[in-house]
Amino acid sequence: MCVIRAVLLLVFTVSQVRSNTSPSIRIGTFNIWNVMFNWKERLQYIASVIKEQEIDIIAFQEVRFSTDKSTGLIISQLEEVKKYLQSHKWMVAQPAGPAGKPAHAYWKEWDQEGLGVLSKFPIRHFANINITSERGKDPNSRLALHVQIQVKEEPQQVINVVAVHYSYAKKQQCQNTQHILDYLSSTHLDNIIMLGDFNAYPEFSGPVEAFIFPEATSCEIKLPYVPLFRDVVLEKRGSDPKAPLTFSNMPSPGLVSRPDRILVSPSIKEVNYYIYGHGAPYRNRFYSAIVMNRVESVLRSAVDSFLGKAGYSCLHDCGPHGSCRCGVCVQGGNELNCNIPECEECDRGSFILFIVILFPMLLSLVLLMFFVIRTLVVSANFNQEDLFAILGYRCCLFNAKLFRYRSLPRTLRSVLGRASVLWRLPPLPMVLVSLTVSTILSFLFMMSFLENFKYIYSILPEELFPSDHLMVVAEISLLDY
Ligand SMILES: *[C@@H]1O[C@H](CO)[C@@H](O)[C@H](O)[C@H]1NC(C)=O
Repeated sequence: MCVIRAVLLLVFTVSQVRSNTSPSIRIGTFNIWNVMFNWKERLQYIASVIKEQEIDIIAFQEVRFSTDKSTGLIISQLEEVKKYLQSHKWMVAQPAGPAGKPAHAYWKEWDQEGLGVLSKFPIRHFANINITSERGKDPNSRLALHVQIQVKEEPQQVINVVAVHYSYAKKQQCQNTQHILDYLSSTHLDNIIMLGDFNAYPEFSGPVEAFIFPEATSCEIKLPYVPLFRDVVLEKRGSDPKAPLTFSNMPSPGLVSRPDRILVSPSIKEVNYYIYGHGAPYRNRFYSAIVMNRVESVLRSAVDSFLGKAGYSCLHDCGPHGSCRCGVCVQGGNELNCNIPECEECDRGSFILFIVILFPMLLSLVLLMFFVIRTLVVSANFNQEDLFAILGYRCCLFNAKLFRYRSLPRTLRSVLGRASVLWRLPPLPMVLVSLTVSTILSFLFMMSFLENFKYIYSILPEELFPSDHLMVVAEISLLDY
């Protein structure tokens, strides 16, 4: 009794303490790897991490945009993520410019790239910060997003989220920093959380450090007066220099750098940080869905070949370890690329062969099943009506009245009548015939499409990761809560 009371008291005290401390906010950043490998599966994974880890606000980079053919509206990948997240009602997504496409690609979707923010709290205002450099190695348009989010109503609390995706060219990264510093100094913001993919290199982190140790940065920039930022991960690790790396989340080259960062201005207190997105949970959950996706892609490429489309069939480049064949990336180096309709496994001929073999094969398998079930039902002296009632199919599937042919034209009726002779043959020859036919056809099917099966299973190791970046999440609270 006494123990129970003590436990109850403890639980009560803990919950009291919790409700008295300022509520913390979880805010994250994730480079979603554009439309690389299996977006349908990665999308579900991303949404499940956001839900399970209770991430309130999240900034995304490499978000692709498409123009909806019927409505003319621009939609982004984030709309699809948002569908899985009932409590993230607020969203901003902005394209920065055209996305790179593999040479000879014949598809037209997802042709713009940019960034966005999803939030559980109301977004009150947002602005695009154009951080494109006029000249340089990196020709891409670059964008940062300033999003004002109201995290508390009474008294009103607003945070300023600045989501970035920096250039990969070092010189242009310094220009990116200059653009953002200029924006911050002209807007006099407070409660700033600046986060995203800074593309920072281990040997060149000056552009991001300009916000933290301005006097020590290696960038040549004009430093206007802006608040000093702190890196959430570095702050929590104290003097431990081994801050967790977040790129690349791939077997090769492995984790080499820390481009994904969360910086906070003085009025924000970091509570903790978390890193998500390692490969194993994703692989375990989605392996079979990925194989099915690949089957679907090969079939779709075969249909495309049949319809006379021509070109590169994958949505993205397959990288240095893979080649694109029939809409899927396959192992064996990058020498095996083929454009449709030239890929043997999915050219017109193999599509026709596929149809010619598949349909009779399915038909003979269905007939075989029918004959076996029919024989079993009769031989077991089982009341057929009971079986159908148990299966619950009496209403329609086995309802003889559904198949009255009285309204059919006389000629068709007589054709059906003659064909029904087949039905009346004794089961044994029918079973034997359909067994033989389906075995032969299955064998033919395997022989004709062995190549395809080989490719469907030769998945690149990188295809089994949810992104080439890890997700970084900070738990923060506002000092003046
Ligand atoms: C951003 O700036 C670049 C370079 O000054 C310019 O070419 C581009 O049109 C601008 N983009 C937008 C959306 O204003």
